[in-house]
Amino acid sequence: MTAPRIGVIGGGQLARMLFGAALDLDLAISFLVRPGDEGILGRAADVTVDDLSLGSLERFASHVDVLTFEHELTPIDTLKALENQGVCLRPSAETMAIAANKLAQRELFQRLKLPIPRFVRLNADTVFDLPCIAKAITGGYDGRGVRWINEASDLGPLVESDTPWLLEELLEVDKEIAVLTVSTPDGDITTYPPVRTIQRDGICVEVQWPSGAGEELEGRAQAIATAIARESGYVGVLAVELFVVAGKLYVNEIAPRVHNSGHMTIEAASTSQFENHLRAVAGLPLGPTNFTTPAVMVNLLGELGSLEGYEPPPNTRLHRYGKEGRPERKVGHITATAATVAEASQLAHRARDRICIHE
Ligand SMILES: Nc1ncnc2c1ncn2[C@@H]1O[C@H](COP(=O)(O)OP(=O)(O)O)[C@@H](O)[C@H]1O
Ligand SMILES: [Mg+2]
Repeated sequence: MTAPRIGVIGGGQLARMLFGAALDLDLAISFLVRPGDEGILGRAADVTVDDLSLGSLERFASHVDVLTFEHELTPIDTLKALENQGVCLRPSAETMAIAANKLAQRELFQRLKLPIPRFVRLNADTVFDLPCIAKAITGGYDGRGVRWINEASDLGPLVESDTPWLLEELLEVDKEIAVLTVSTPDGDITTYPPVRTIQRDGICVEVQWPSGAGEELEGRAQAIATAIARESGYVGVLAVELFVVAGKLYVNEIAPRVHNSGHMTIEAASTSQFENHLRAVAGLPLGPTNFTTPAVMVNLLGELGSLEGYEPPPNTRLHRYGKEGRPERKVGHITATAATVAEASQLAHRARDRICIHE
């Protein structure tokens, strides 16, 4: 049996790292990239530049065997229409409908009786304790759809906006962790060990393994993530973000794709999240998900200067995404490995400080 040709909807850094894994596995892979993003994947990949209309997706799907995603922007109706035409989507349109909608995600969490922060859908007459957090129900990422609400008057523009919002209780979060699950088409599910994620203004700036959350919480987080992957009929890598509050876990959100919290699996795990996602989507056996060393990843946000004069410290690796810089935009990351998280973090920051970045 030859492995199927995989079609990836998207052409950002996640697609770029999927491409690296596809090269290592010698898998055939193609990318559907929106106009403006064509530079990111470079010249080596098979890239189609087109929009996310049904016609464009039909054309793209006709020369691949299975479709998968690096973002949640394709309209769900389009995904359903493709599936009805017999196109193989991994994960499925139904799963994407849940994962791309923060309200549908919360309904899934409630069905599974998982602990989540208190929330309501925002309407003109919504009453909710302040301060709280407002979240765009669709389309938000990297903190772009998240607002800290201090006064009722902050809600006006959100009620008036074209997109729907929900309000959520503001938790006193001690720690944030993330679990990546990988699911095969046959329903086998495995998880990566939880990592700690550190956010600034709603954007992930650093990821650490080990997470330091303790065995018991980590085990529970993995069980929660597995239950979500199973209930949603998932295929591929699914990221589950959780909060630790006073020794208790709350589920925050899921992302139906490879995830920023798993970038350091390239250097620090037996099998990277990118390789395992492709393995799952192609119906190949999964690789082991253990970490082989403590590791820390720091994101590079803003605009990167030239590499000239950048001397990478030992046990660090720089990944540049080939993206045009903008404030708060993720344009690269650095992974450092060391005997402890503290040492790896110090190394990663030392490397970052040597790079010319305009934040
Ligand atoms: N209920 C909450 N209480 C406290 N902090 C929160 C809450 N919800 C979100 N945050 C903070 O905002 C970040 C981004 O929120 P999230 O819902 O994960 O949005 P995004 O889709 O942009 O990742 C979280 O990682 C966390 O740091
Ligand atoms: Mg998040």
